[in-house]
Amino acid sequence: MKYSIAICGGGSTYTLPMIKTLCDYQHKLPIKRIVLYDIDLEKTALIYEATKIMVEELMDGVKVEISNKPEKAFDKIDFAFMQIRSGGLKMREKDEKIPLKYDCVGQETCGAGGFAYGLRSVPDVIDIVNGIRKYSPKAWIINYSNPAAIVAEATKRFFPNDKRLINICDMPIAIMEGFAEALGVKRQSLSPRYFGLNHFGWFTNLYDEKGVDLLPKIKKMLKDGSLMPEELKKDKDWVNTFNQLSVMVKDIEGHIPNTYLQYYFYPKKMVEKEDKNYTRANAVMDNRLKEVERISKYVIDNKTIKGSGLEEGVHGTYIVELATSIINNENKTFLIITKNNGIISNFSKDAMVEVPCIVNSNGWEPMHIGEIDTFYKALMENQYGYEKLTVDALINNDYDAALKALILNRTIVNVDTAKNILGEMIEANINYWPKLRK
Ligand code: G6P
Ligand code: MN
Repeated sequence: MKYSIAICGGGSTYTLPMIKTLCDYQHKLPIKRIVLYDIDLEKTALIYEATKIMVEELMDGVKVEISNKPEKAFDKIDFAFMQIRSGGLKMREKDEKIPLKYDCVGQETCGAGGFAYGLRSVPDVIDIVNGIRKYSPKAWIINYSNPAAIVAEATKRFFPNDKRLINICDMPIAIMEGFAEALGVKRQSLSPRYFGLNHFGWFTNLYDEKGVDLLPKIKKMLKDGSLMPEELKKDKDWVNTFNQLSVMVKDIEGHIPNTYLQYYFYPKKMVEKEDKNYTRANAVMDNRLKEVERISKYVIDNKTIKGSGLEEGVHGTYIVELATSIINNENKTFLIITKNNGIISNFSKDAMVEVPCIVNSNGWEPMHIGEIDTFYKALMENQYGYEKLTVDALINNDYDAALKALILNRTIVNVDTAKNILGEMIEANINYWPKLRK
């Protein structure tokens, strides 16, 4: 059997490395067709041309297509890999800069930025999932689209019975990659135990193939210095983030936090280190975006990927490994965002939690976590309140729910600040958000 894959958000900077991983995994995941689906065909054109050359060079008889039409892109697909960015990097820039004006964290998925992005992202994700279900009712949809916490809370409400829609995030895996490199082992040989909400979780254990927990050793290493994956070392923002991970581990005794918790534990410091006129979105536009353009042009001009500098990344590898575990019934462990339903026994039943799951041809089966300590539970209940109210605000066009969501967010807290930020966000997102009614 050969599979047909649609990449939603085909114009993403992550597409080429993902295709490269698909080429490398073809013996485990045989492919007959790859469709790049994107609303912006112009932006996707270069990536499409480079993809055709790469696929021709590294695989046999694979059709590569580009489309902005659901009926074409989602026709008889087996997998959809979703990585859309509603509003593009231009809107990410606003998500980051508006909160910073009020001395609040300006981040694409955390705080007010994540809130704004969520209100743009959810309607697009819902539309795409509906499109896929219309033309390929049984396709596996593996979704990376951010802010994953808000997106997962929404997909749970819109598609409560969809057993083939999987929400994931690559951050814990990137963190684990850094741990594996420091230990001198392959990441795939480590089995994580982890719980939380998306971008709001903790590692509790990290088992090697013999069942030995290596996390105590990692914790010690983190206290002595930063551990980060090689692929992010040339990016100074990520270097800072991983340095801060070590600070968090030293400051707060307990489980090892996801790097994103830095925004909730050190909001003041996070604001102070920012250049309010040049944020992460600017850096991504100036660096990764240009690099992808350069690689695409090189591949097109030289008709080969050899010498292009194209490198695979954790983002692509993780999603391809997940698909591989499904089709080959591998029963491997992946972190997935799924409905709690008692997995964390003393936490909201309805919440979408990120936990280890066994993945096979029937889908995913979460592992039991049990009770969590007061500190984590209290933080998560508060954050889940924010996530829930954000989706309520969107579904009911409800200004008050939106304001309450922002008040609950640890990066904001003050009612006046929440009101001001919300006012500006409404203006900035006039072409994207529904009209919020008071
Ligand atoms: C990690 C997170 C993603 C996020 C990305 C941002 O991979 O898991 O959710 O989108 O980082 O990276 P960037 O380099 O675009 O700031
Ligand atoms: Mn993520």
